[in-house]
Amino acid sequence: MSFIVAIDGPAGTGKGTITKLVAEELGLINIDTGAMYRCVTLDMINKRISLDNIDEINELLSKIKIDIKNIDGNLRFLLNGIDVTIDIRTQKVNDLVSQVSHIPEVRINMVNLQRKMAEGKMVIMEGRDIGTNVFPNADVKIYLDATTEERAKRRYKQEQKNGSDITYEEVLKNVIFRDENDKNSNIAPLKQADDAVLVDTTELTIEQVRKKVISIIKEKIDG
Ligand code: DC
Repeated sequence: MSFIVAIDGPAGTGKGTITKLVAEELGLINIDTGAMYRCVTLDMINKRISLDNIDEINELLSKIKIDIKNIDGNLRFLLNGIDVTIDIRTQKVNDLVSQVSHIPEVRINMVNLQRKMAEGKMVIMEGRDIGTNVFPNADVKIYLDATTEERAKRRYKQEQKNGSDITYEEVLKNVIFRDENDKNSNIAPLKQADDAVLVDTTELTIEQVRKKVISIIKEKIDG
């Protein structure tokens, strides 16, 4: 028997941070599905496969091996046996990943893999379409959201911390572009599942969101 907690929502809502904290506290396996799409994107970049070369993409998908390892609470991602945890966060992957994640063949393959990874396990899975598409019968569904401006502000702070000289206006434009792309996609568009609990994080600290998410999950477990 498996137990699935689905955490969905747009970028900049703190999904990754919250999922990690909750996984540690409740002893759940943490599966970051965005990172899986990033692995496919990196593999395509390394093999110089273009977005419209479906034959080569299928060939790549038939061989790809993605493993997630949890080392002292930090996730490490292995692509075909090689640790790519850092490489999947680079700008060239950022620029392409949304388009790669909307290729139907990629989507089908990754969703199958995500379902397999959760078989018989207690997991918390983070993404965009977990509660709507990957696990429509998930035990707990949570949709994290925040205003566009707040999410851009968070991302901008992160960029500054990383030494980037990108302006707030550029970050905001990028956030708006990605939102549009994710919400208006024909394939698994980003949307709150009807039975998901909405948590608006705009005015909340990480600690407050953590507490809220834990209490939603515990409520479900205790019935
Ligand atoms: O969460 P992230 O930024 O690492 O996600 C990378 C990309 O993958 C992002 O453009 C949205 C997409 N994605 C998706 O389409 N479905 C998921 N379940 C997770 C991520």
